[in-house]
Amino acid sequence: MLLGVNIDHVATLRNARGGFEPDPVTAAGICEKFGAASITTHLREDRRHIKDADVYALSETIKTRLNLEMAMAEDIQRIALEVKPYSICLVPEKRQEITTEGGLDVAGQLSQVKEFIKPLLDAGIIVSLFIDPTKKQVRAAAKTGAQFIEMHTGAYSEAFGTPKENKEFLKLKEAAELAQSLGLQVNAGHGLNYFNVHRMHEIKGLVELNIGHSIISRAVFTGLSEAVSHMNDLIK
Ligand code: PXP
Repeated sequence: MLLGVNIDHVATLRNARGGFEPDPVTAAGICEKFGAASITTHLREDRRHIKDADVYALSETIKTRLNLEMAMAEDIQRIALEVKPYSICLVPEKRQEITTEGGLDVAGQLSQVKEFIKPLLDAGIIVSLFIDPTKKQVRAAAKTGAQFIEMHTGAYSEAFGTPKENKEFLKLKEAAELAQSLGLQVNAGHGLNYFNVHRMHEIKGLVELNIGHSIISRAVFTGLSEAVSHMNDLIK
């Protein structure tokens, strides 16, 4: 199982000051150096974290694979066709949401999804669909021509450690098995952290986990001691 690191929150921090640091491109390089198999970034319609220029810069510097998360928006499709990331992951997007809440309703808009991803597939970009782990969505995803699904692990992550954990976990396991039997490759992500990630090993054949928030959050604390010591040295 591979790790894809989502670096969006490095851009969130950068944008808080409107300057240049911390730089998401540098972050991507560090993630790659320490074992990330791919770098994921979400170019949101409101550009709240990653900006267009970041996507272009990342596509030129990443040595592993760039996975671009995007909504079904024509202007972002144009950027994807120009940048040609290794893969895109189609996600639903609501402007007011804090993060991607729930998976893409592929079953409810099958022909629109097929039509939207066709030029991307034709351009040789791998397409993944971010869906909730339900049979209905998996069956629909298998009809689109996409090669991958990414299962939304948010409900499992929230239920982790509660009586609902097993029920949510089973949904992921069964959805993955169904997807694989229909010829889809399966990734997973959202809300995974250092406590709940281990159960992903119980799902056979998962290709990649895309993890962002917990890694960037932990990096703040693992890096804080060095950052304070270094500044103190300079001041003294
Ligand atoms: N996968 C997808 C499709 C996402 O939208 C996100 C959140 O941007 C993630 C994975 C990573 O989620 P988290 O930041 O909770 O690890």
